[in-house]
Amino acid sequence: MPRSATHKVDSSQFSIELLLELQQPPEPFTPGAPLFWDDPHISAQMLAAHLDPHLAAASRTHAEIDRSVAWLAEQLALRPGTAVLDLGCGPGLYAARLAARGVRVTGIDYSRRSIDYAVQEAHAQEMDIDYRYQNYLTLDETERYDAALLIYGDFCTLAPALRARLLHTIRAALRPHGTLVLDVSTPVHRARHGLRQGWYTAESGFWRAGPHLVMEQGFAYPRQQSFSTSTLWPRPAAR
Ligand SMILES: C[S@@+](CC[C@H](N)C(=O)[O-])C[C@H]1O[C@@H](n2cnc3c(N)ncnc32)[C@H](O)[C@@H]1O
Repeated sequence: MPRSATHKVDSSQFSIELLLELQQPPEPFTPGAPLFWDDPHISAQMLAAHLDPHLAAASRTHAEIDRSVAWLAEQLALRPGTAVLDLGCGPGLYAARLAARGVRVTGIDYSRRSIDYAVQEAHAQEMDIDYRYQNYLTLDETERYDAALLIYGDFCTLAPALRARLLHTIRAALRPHGTLVLDVSTPVHRARHGLRQGWYTAESGFWRAGPHLVMEQGFAYPRQQSFSTSTLWPRPAAR
């Protein structure tokens, strides 16, 4: 265990009761930390992960994204001027590639840091992309887009009621005969990756600056075909 993890962390709230509580499966789709995507530390780590071309964590590797965009362009018959809505666009890795093909892209994301990066990058590349810092669940548009994308599994994280709401929202935003591309994980994918189980300490890491303990316990919910995982300690401060 790193020395600082035992020396600097306030352990006064750490108890066996807490560990026992954490071993209980949460209700499926229990919301996580509010504004997770805008947490100052996590959003910086997340952006760095998006921008690492070889890392498949926050986004796919950039080589895979190149292939995915080529596939999307073919499957959706994207032409210059086609209007595409990229929901949860992150720092615009797909949006920029689509815009380079002449596609008119609107990118929506709830991470201020990612959207700020995307806007700066579009400006630097002289690309006309409409980026918005917005919760895509609040989208309110009618028949504006030829296609909508929700890429890298985000649909899977939504509770059924929110999925239904989002699908209605997207349907309204699409033109007649518009296409929605949903990128979801499957039971096969889940079986291949398994459930995380274990713990580690870090001097500083993805989830927190400073010494912390990450306890990961995956729970499978076969009926919902879903899973949940991970707890952090010290626990994130309530906002
Ligand atoms: C796993 S990342 C994928 C980003 C991008 N689609 C990609 O593959 O590079 C999920 C993104 O969805 C955004 N996001 C999550 N919930 C959102 C919401 N309700 N409204 C808008 N963006 C959201 C996050 O900020 C994050 O950038």
